[in-house]
Amino acid sequence: MKIMITGDKGQLGADCKKVFGETHEVLGVDLDEVDITKLTEIELLVQQFSPNIIVNCAAYTRVDDCEIEKELAWKANVTGAENLAKCVDKHGGRLIHISTDYVFDGRKKVPEPYLETDVPNPLSYYGMSKFEGEEAIKRTTDHYIILRTAWLYGISGHNFLKTMLKLSLRSSDNKIKVVNDQFGSPTWTYRLALQIERFIETNYRGIFHATAKGYCTWYELAVYFLKKMDVPHTIIPCKTEEYPTPTARPMNSILENRNLKEKGMDIMAGWKSDVDKFVLKFREVLLKEIEKET
Ligand SMILES: NC(=O)c1ccc[n+]([C@@H]2O[C@H](COP(=O)([O-])OP(=O)(O)OC[C@H]3O[C@@H](n4cnc5c(N)ncnc54)[C@H](OP(=O)(O)O)[C@@H]3O)[C@@H](O)[C@H]2O)c1
Repeated sequence: MKIMITGDKGQLGADCKKVFGETHEVLGVDLDEVDITKLTEIELLVQQFSPNIIVNCAAYTRVDDCEIEKELAWKANVTGAENLAKCVDKHGGRLIHISTDYVFDGRKKVPEPYLETDVPNPLSYYGMSKFEGEEAIKRTTDHYIILRTAWLYGISGHNFLKTMLKLSLRSSDNKIKVVNDQFGSPTWTYRLALQIERFIETNYRGIFHATAKGYCTWYELAVYFLKKMDVPHTIIPCKTEEYPTPTARPMNSILENRNLKEKGMDIMAGWKSDVDKFVLKFREVLLKEIEKET
């Protein structure tokens, strides 16, 4: 199969490129090569490469910045998604588009999970733009999979785990407050890439949730990860209101992979076992990366 990956320098895109590249012909592009907000640019590439599947990992993902850079966020998360949908509708193939738990308001009582059939009600501009991206795709083509995930971490790019590691290594005396009342399922991008790969040989369409099994708070995740890394820390739990951010986050980000399960497709693993594997594989790389930055 010929697979085009947009956002291939991001966390998920980089792992998709690695995973799919083992058995498929892959073309990965990122913002420095092609901007998905520009239809003519992206359409030309699609015509040249003729992908069977486009996996859209490109997005404006800086949640707080979205509140200020609304136009940029809208273009990447809505226009960009719509452009890719137009390409598959006109030139054939299927679009696998990555979306987010932030389309929900998180007001369900923990641990009640969000299902694919629940009605989105985003709290932030980022969540709203990702939801509008989903809607634009649904209006444009039938040949789509929208895959909602949450709390991503991987070896490429920036993420919460790398931030926790950096803070812990650099400020061994200072207390680091981490919220302990927002719940979600930390999801390894490598595992998610393997899950996305399962769709390649199928003809499924529609909306799917794909996150790791089980759930925790950001505080629990940080403590678990740093213990596995064998890095001492001074992390203390706090409430969301003690750690104000420019935009609200869902308190409950737990998604259930209901559609994947019903189709016998769910290969997502428990969040702890994937953090274990991530650390086993990348501990030295992570430590070196931070050492290089200082
Ligand atoms: N990170 C999470 O915790 C999380 C949770 C749920 C869902 N998701 C979704 O999962 C997907 C992948 O997330 P991620 O964490 O891997 O994202 P990421 O690391 O931020 O990667 C996104 C990539 O897309 C690029 N990009 C931005 N605008 C673009 C444009 N107009 N044209 C082409 N490329 C563009 C970015 O380039 P620049 O870096 O130069 O901007 C970046 O390389 C996204 O759709 C995101 O909304 C993420």
